[in-house]
Amino acid sequence: MTVKISVLVSGNGTNLQSVIDAIENGDIDNAEIACVISDKEGAFALTRAEKHGIEGIYANPKLCASRQDYDNILIGILKEKETDLVLLAGYLRIVSDSLIEEYKNRIINIHPSLLPSFKGLNAQKQAIDYGVKYTGCTVHFVEPDLDAGPIIMQKVIPVFDGDTAETLAKRLLVEENKAYREVVKLFVDGKLEVNGRIVKIKD
Ligand code: GRF
Repeated sequence: MTVKISVLVSGNGTNLQSVIDAIENGDIDNAEIACVISDKEGAFALTRAEKHGIEGIYANPKLCASRQDYDNILIGILKEKETDLVLLAGYLRIVSDSLIEEYKNRIINIHPSLLPSFKGLNAQKQAIDYGVKYTGCTVHFVEPDLDAGPIIMQKVIPVFDGDTAETLAKRLLVEENKAYREVVKLFVDGKLEVNGRIVKIKD
C-alpha cells in the first residue's frame, strides 16, 4: 500500500526536498507526496514541490477567523488527498488539537534542538546564548504541547567556538535533512512503535 504523505511548510523547504529526493531515488519505497501546503504564499518550498510535479497549495491564514478554522481547512485538504502521514517541515504555525487528534501519531515534526531543551523559535540562537557545547535536532510525533511529543530520532552536533546562530543553523540543517528522511523511511516501512512517550524502532 503506498503511504500518502502531505507536507506542511512555511519557508525554504530543505527538509521537504530531502524527503522528495529520498522518494525519487528509491531510498524510501511505497510512498508518495500527495501535496505540499504552505501558510506563506511565496514559500520556496512550494516552488520545490512544483519542480517535482507535486501539487503546491497556498492556504491563506488571513481568510480564517481562528486557528481552528484554518486547521479545519487543512483537515479537509488532507482528507481529500487521502493523507496517511503529515509532515511539518519548517512549518511555523502551531497546529490545533483537532488536527492532532485527527492524525494521532501520524504527524511528525522536526525541531532544530535536542528537545526538551530550547523549545520554540530561534532554537539555534537559544543554544548559542546558553553556551551549550553540543546541540542537535529532534524528530518527534506532534502532540498538543509545543515541541513535546514522543521523540523518534535525534542527531547531535558540536557547537564550535565562534559559532553564530547562522553558522550553527547551516551545519544543523544537514543533520536535520538526514534525520527527517531516515524517520520517514522508518514510518513508511512500519518500523515505528509508540508506547506512551517511548518510540521504539522495530527490527
Ligand atoms: C529548520 O531548521 C527546521 O528545523 C525549522 O525550520 C528550518 C527550515 O526548515 N523548523 P526548511 O528548510 O524549511 O525545511
